[in-house]
Amino acid sequence: MRKFLLGILLLTLAVVAFSSSRVTITMTAGAVGKELEVLYAQLDVFMRQNPNIKVSVMPMPNSSTERHDLYVTYLASGEKEPTVLMLDVIWPAEFAPYLEDLTADKDYFELNKFLPGTVKAATVNGRIVAIPWFTDAGLLYYRKDLLEKYGFKNPPKTWDELVKMAKTITAKEKNMVGFVWQGARYEGLVCDFMEYLVSFGGDVLDDQGNVIINSPAAVKALQFMVDLIYTHKVSPQAVTTYMEEEARRAFQNGQAVFMRNWPYAWSLLNDPKESKVAGKVGVAPLPAGPAGKSAATLGGWMLGINKNATPEEKEAAKKLIKFLTSYEQQLYKAINAGQNPTMMDVYKDPALKKAAPFMVELYGMFINAVPRPRTAKYSEISDVIQKYVHAALTRQTTPQKAIEDMAKELNKILGK
Ligand code: GLC
Repeated sequence: MRKFLLGILLLTLAVVAFSSSRVTITMTAGAVGKELEVLYAQLDVFMRQNPNIKVSVMPMPNSSTERHDLYVTYLASGEKEPTVLMLDVIWPAEFAPYLEDLTADKDYFELNKFLPGTVKAATVNGRIVAIPWFTDAGLLYYRKDLLEKYGFKNPPKTWDELVKMAKTITAKEKNMVGFVWQGARYEGLVCDFMEYLVSFGGDVLDDQGNVIINSPAAVKALQFMVDLIYTHKVSPQAVTTYMEEEARRAFQNGQAVFMRNWPYAWSLLNDPKESKVAGKVGVAPLPAGPAGKSAATLGGWMLGINKNATPEEKEAAKKLIKFLTSYEQQLYKAINAGQNPTMMDVYKDPALKKAAPFMVELYGMFINAVPRPRTAKYSEISDVIQKYVHAALTRQTTPQKAIEDMAKELNKILGK
């Protein structure tokens, strides 16, 4: 009897010890291209290595704007979930008050090995609030086979050249449009707009944070976007409803000569099971505007921890982030989901060069991508830009008036 009781006691202790060390954390995740599938595979490995940690995924809408609005609801309510948040590069300043300070953990995460620009984006008032996961920059995808067929040796170096090539090719090729991009009213539109704006010689704010959007360059840039649809007719009107995935699908089905998109599209475009254009696609920097320069918007995502999580959950979250941002996992993600590493050495890995040569070849462009305004009021700024650019693209206002109104509202938001 005594032995039996002792047995029960030991068993109870073991159960208590096991269950108290087992922790469940939640993580938000996107599903653009292959990223969710790749994440599930990574989490399987992590949970096998860490049997006491269970990670449950909260899939999020693909639109960065919609995700932002959900986060505002979660974080403002003081909930301890989600534990780990996938954060767009433009959000740290706004969400910093809700995120765990990771400054003391910078050696644990080996941040000295990361691209300095990505670490800077995760730093708010000297505090590190997230760990860079992958970085993004706008790219021009083009149909190598069609450019060759029509005698164009190189991808377009200027926007005007792009228009000419697109017109020549679509005049002959049936059921094709020239150029697809992200023209829906959401964050992606701001990214696309910034690329025209900067390549035409304009900008939103100067280094002191003054609004400088009201310039002839900005009006011309927006006019050019409008002209792509209605004057040159190289982009279908439907681009005003396109986000990344709509553009990718059109291009992947062989319906477009050129596409502006992020690196993730590469692995899908070249997957013969998914794509009609596998092996026929080239990648180049976006064309230059009249200012003589080409501009790619800096994008990317990081991982932060909810400040309201319990100490055990925070520890587990750190382990998970350390795993997901490790060399091996960044390489795996880059090869399989086509998302650019944030750790510098991964770019030297021969396996990356083989799977996504452009990531290595265009390294200089990735690290020089143009950031969107860095301010805690970014969401309000973005909302105004989206509203007026979209109004011009759908011809509810003229580019001139759109830029003037945008400048007025931006000044109001920034208290100028
Ligand atoms: C990509 C970028 C992100 C950007 C978003 C816009 O996910 O990485 O920074 O805000 O696209 O759609």
